[in-house]
Amino acid sequence: MRHLLTLADLATAEIERIFSITEDLKTKLARGLREPLLPGRVMALLFEKQSLRTRVSFEAAMVHLGGSSLFLGQDVGFGSRESIADFGRTLSEYVDVIVLRANLHMTAVDLAEHSNCSVINGLTDFGHPCQAMADLYTIRELVGGRLEGRTIAWIGDANNVARSLALGCGKLGIKLVMAVPEKYQYNAKSLAWIRQQVPALNLTITTDAIEAVCDAVAIYTDVWASMGQEAERETRRADFAPYQVNARLMSHAQKGAFFMHCLPARRGEEVTDEVIDGPQSVVVQQAANRMHVQKGILAWLLGTQGAALRESGSRVAGLGIAE
Ligand code: CP
Ligand code: NVA
Repeated sequence: MRHLLTLADLATAEIERIFSITEDLKTKLARGLREPLLPGRVMALLFEKQSLRTRVSFEAAMVHLGGSSLFLGQDVGFGSRESIADFGRTLSEYVDVIVLRANLHMTAVDLAEHSNCSVINGLTDFGHPCQAMADLYTIRELVGGRLEGRTIAWIGDANNVARSLALGCGKLGIKLVMAVPEKYQYNAKSLAWIRQQVPALNLTITTDAIEAVCDAVAIYTDVWASMGQEAERETRRADFAPYQVNARLMSHAQKGAFFMHCLPARRGEEVTDEVIDGPQSVVVQQAANRMHVQKGILAWLLGTQGAALRESGSRVAGLGIAE
């Protein structure tokens, strides 16, 4: 059983295959064609946190592919009414794939271990692999294909989105320069885990945002306080203030560098209106690509298109995580 809990679960060739399925489906959709690659398939969306993009883009993706989806909110009692193991064993008897947004990454690992269908991570505290896939696909579109040797700058918190991006960069030969206040950088254990998963990753971590943006093709930021960190918001606002992506910081980037954000954004905090609404911003393209890339992921994972590339046998990756 294949799961997508972190990007460590995908080989480089598999990422490229998903991108090529995505490209094909996106081109066809632009011509009004919706290929029903997954007729009769059912996807459950199990969400412990709020979502606009992940929820709706997955639901729309499944409709386009000829399948259907069930959104499961608080009423199913996930995590409170029965064990995660019993929940997974039961739910996976009804559906073909589960997309989970969980507070704790170990919940996703636990669910995957006990489910008889694929589990896709739709964001945990540890990672957001579908976001990183859409982001890398977006950069691929913007630069016209070749990602190897490019540089991405990450400005702000070393969080879940950054970790997934780091894994993706390592898989695709992209250099990542992160500007993060010292106190918020990955600890040694977390960094060792990333390096173990993607030994080829060219990663620089600095506290200097200007240094980070200089050579980058894309400047990426995210909220300073993620979901679940609301109590730290005021402290983080002060700590991250020098890391705001504003016109002054963008002026140090290469001409033509893109601004990226996974959204939702806290305008006036990690990014100013003039940058997120400016000509360099590609945030809407990123959000739109969530749907296209997730169609690629679903078709690859569940459809006949991906069967030749998928290996058989049991495999639950994402274990052995380190914070
Ligand atoms: N970027 C992202 O995952 O957005 P949502 O929280 O709205 O799903
Ligand atoms: N880092 C953010 C991403 C939201 C899509 C969070 O976890 O809240």
